[in-house]
Amino acid sequence: MSVLVTNLGELTTNDPELGTVRGAAVVLDGDRVGWVGSAKRAPQADSRVDAQGRAGLPGWVDSHTHLVFAGDRTAEFGARMAGEAYTAGGIAVTVEATRAADDEQLRAGLRKHVAEAVAQGTTCIETKTGYGLTVVDEVRSARLAAEFADEVTYLGAHLVPPGTDPDAYVDLAAGEMLDRVAPYVQWADVFCETGAFDEAQSRQVLKAAAARGLGLRVHGNQLGPGPGVRLAVELGAASVDHCTHLTQSDVDALAGSDTVATLLPACDLSTRQPLPEARRLLDAGATIALATNCNPGSSYTSSMAYCIATAVLQMRLSVPEAIRAATLGGAQALRRTDVGVLRPGARADLHLLDAPSATHLAYRPGVPLTWAVWRSGSPARPPRG
Ligand code: NIG
Repeated sequence: MSVLVTNLGELTTNDPELGTVRGAAVVLDGDRVGWVGSAKRAPQADSRVDAQGRAGLPGWVDSHTHLVFAGDRTAEFGARMAGEAYTAGGIAVTVEATRAADDEQLRAGLRKHVAEAVAQGTTCIETKTGYGLTVVDEVRSARLAAEFADEVTYLGAHLVPPGTDPDAYVDLAAGEMLDRVAPYVQWADVFCETGAFDEAQSRQVLKAAAARGLGLRVHGNQLGPGPGVRLAVELGAASVDHCTHLTQSDVDALAGSDTVATLLPACDLSTRQPLPEARRLLDAGATIALATNCNPGSSYTSSMAYCIATAVLQMRLSVPEAIRAATLGGAQALRRTDVGVLRPGARADLHLLDAPSATHLAYRPGVPLTWAVWRSGSPARPPRG
């Protein structure tokens, strides 16, 4: 079945040849984009949606979330807003609740959070393990994540479980745990930060993952300067995430590499950190992505629109730069060429706004603008009347 979505006031494609098309139309043909161009030249399709001048863009690519969890950390958030510092140690609270939950409880959380994201225009979503931290619980987290997410990342090296010998745990995370989780995941990640894993420990896990054919990602430079960015670039990671505290040599390293700097501004606001220097990274020539980091501890939001409004209003990105980072940038962080872009052959992931232009995402911050969403060609959120 094909559908013609026509009379789009503005269509952001992220395709260098198509650019931003005014008076546009798109044909979604099954799970692929069949045609993109001026509405005046649009071909026929099996059905037709009149967007009545609304703006369209590729669905968001949320390349960093932690959705396999149970429990609640509202009290920790409240304490932080009253002046307590955020530390990696809070992860252990969610680990305890996640281990105690049964599969159906974890599935219900995944289903709810993915649906919440999709209803806001997210059509490609990555999520991680990392709240299990035993072989059995990490395998279970990966298996359940694979039922709901487009991309799954192994994050056994999220925290050394309290009461565990760090060296023994790193050996496990780089050995048996990795072997058992690998069939369910595309990526491996390490939280390379004071209070989590140091450079040598991070390197051990990442190299073991690369040897098993997994792509690499790193949580780095979140709570202070550190080796995360340098290590990610050295090992050819697809992405280094957070990048809140960067030195000039980190910026230079990112600019000279294929490693995407994934910025998580909702997390920085929720943990009372400075916002990442997106402008400095872009001006140096680095590739950036914007993602939600949806998790119960440091960033409990699934709203990519909130990240975009923050990036524009507080991080000095232009609206097109922020939208690109939340679509094509996320795709690059996941090394995918089929999402984050609207051109024939791309995945049929389309997001329509109840607004005449994408600029309204920052011009009207906090207003739910999503009007319709197609994910792989299926109407994940049918057009509102
Ligand atoms: O990306 N930095 C490490 N992991 C998560 C935090 C998880 C938590 O506090 O539960 C993050 O912010």
